[in-house]
Amino acid sequence: MDYYRVLGVVLFSLLACTKAEQVKFVDCGSAEGKVAEVDIYPCPSQPCQLHKGQSYTVNVTFTSSVASQTSTAVVHGVVAGIPVPFPIPQSDGCKSGIQCPIEPQKAYTYVNQLPVKNEYPAIKLVVEWELRDDSSKDLFCIKFPVQIVN
Ligand SMILES: *[C@@H]1O[C@H](CO)[C@@H](O)[C@H](O)[C@H]1NC(C)=O
Repeated sequence: MDYYRVLGVVLFSLLACTKAEQVKFVDCGSAEGKVAEVDIYPCPSQPCQLHKGQSYTVNVTFTSSVASQTSTAVVHGVVAGIPVPFPIPQSDGCKSGIQCPIEPQKAYTYVNQLPVKNEYPAIKLVVEWELRDDSSKDLFCIKFPVQIVN
């Protein structure tokens, strides 16, 4: 019996480690789309703990309500109410899992990396992630809390 219990715990832990975590998010004004789901990997408990020097995968599933040739990501870290630019290596959404041109009423999965630099302070903050269309309107705008840790 104990053997099975241990096996169960091990399997559960493995699943918890490999599964992308669906995170709670706030929609901050997705004027041109609708967000279905936000996954961050790895994020075993919420708010997600982001370790310095590591990179995290952010996966946003959304439906666009407009057509757009382009899509551009803009990421901010909101610290004490003030948005500070959060640099990401690839801001072109069309190179982040989205097949452009974007068509209306179609579902897309946007997948990108969030690198956490060593020089970032170990604080709690809110990440605000926007994906803008041709007319600079938000295909999605999501906010989720994170904690940067050493
Ligand atoms: C992103 O999330 C969607 C919905 O959960 C999933 O179907 C898809 O496989 C994920 N993609 C990646 C690259 O993790």
